[in-house]
Amino acid sequence: MPRILLSIPHMGGTEQHYASEAFSTNWVSTAGPHLGAFEAAFSQRIGHPSLCLSSGTAAIHLGLKLLGVGPGDEVLCSTLTFAASANPIRYQGAVPIFLDSDRATWNLDPNLLREVLQAKAATNRLPKALIVVDLYGQSADMDPILATCREYGVAVLEDAAEALGATYKGLPAGSLSEISVYSFNGNKIITTAGGGMLTAHDQAMVDKARFWATQARDPGIAYEHSETGYNYRMSNVLAGIGRGQLEVLDLRVQRRREIAFRYRDAFADLPGISLMPQAAYGLHTNWLSCFLIDRTRFGCSRDDLLRHLDSRDIESRPVWKPMHLQPLFADCEVHGGAVAADLFHTGICLPSSSNLGADDQARVITAVREAARA
Ligand SMILES: Cc1ncc(COP(=O)(O)O)c(C=O)c1O
Repeated sequence: MPRILLSIPHMGGTEQHYASEAFSTNWVSTAGPHLGAFEAAFSQRIGHPSLCLSSGTAAIHLGLKLLGVGPGDEVLCSTLTFAASANPIRYQGAVPIFLDSDRATWNLDPNLLREVLQAKAATNRLPKALIVVDLYGQSADMDPILATCREYGVAVLEDAAEALGATYKGLPAGSLSEISVYSFNGNKIITTAGGGMLTAHDQAMVDKARFWATQARDPGIAYEHSETGYNYRMSNVLAGIGRGQLEVLDLRVQRRREIAFRYRDAFADLPGISLMPQAAYGLHTNWLSCFLIDRTRFGCSRDDLLRHLDSRDIESRPVWKPMHLQPLFADCEVHGGAVAADLFHTGICLPSSSNLGADDQARVITAVREAARA
């Protein structure tokens, strides 16, 4: 039996047509009609101007630059996330400060954010920006987060890399923040093999990011440069794949949710295993099906469960290791951290691909139940 992987690409059908068109018209380059078409379709979906980039990480980097983050600035960031959320803070020579999660959503704790900004305002040293992450397909609780940041003049970048297709109070995840980023990495809900999107409320910001992403060449025929540029543009071939993938996004969301709820129902009689909370304020795509394991009630630890699944040729992963526990960020300021640490120690991500077959999911369910009995 082949190994069941955590989250793999799932093509819809038209991607190859668009990619072939890029070849037949020879737009095999970082220019071409698929880029504009993908951006237009994405903008329609999110409601704001969009820019195709080579990765979500590149989008975060340019987003921070757009917000004016530079050397020595402090940037708040959710601690429970993938390292790509925080690395661009360091690219800019800025200083990360990590904030804990709210157990009710696993995302940034809005009350903690308020406390931290209140305390920082009292010392007259406010951070330049906040990177708020929408984890595993669920939006953070954006209304209180945005209200607090507005009050203290802190810019917000929303890392919605894992939450394309999710909603917050009826609006697309990422659409409320001044700048948001999305990822089309091969493990995401839709993929372009690798790629990202930056969206901004202000068209001028998107134009500036496009300029930086294409080597910051000044207008005119000569290769003249007044600013440092980057080679961060997406290829037209990959934008073609993105166009096809975006057409099936709603189907992918539906399927990821079905998979998560089938696991939840199949484990309903087992004590000590619970699905990631689904906040009432929005639609959770359940990009990954994440569960918490209570060792004593479930009958084995999260790590034992990881090992058991591996022995059955099933890939599963711990919930992200929080940034404040990473050697890379060991010297950074952190506020709270115990909630994120506990989610890391007890959380597991089960195979969640939208093309996971019913039989393969049954194999995962059987293996989890074996571990519980053992
Ligand atoms: C929360 C989060 N932020 C950022 C990224 C980076 O995106 P990319 O891999 O497209 O650079 C990822 C995933 O890879 C992610 O999960």
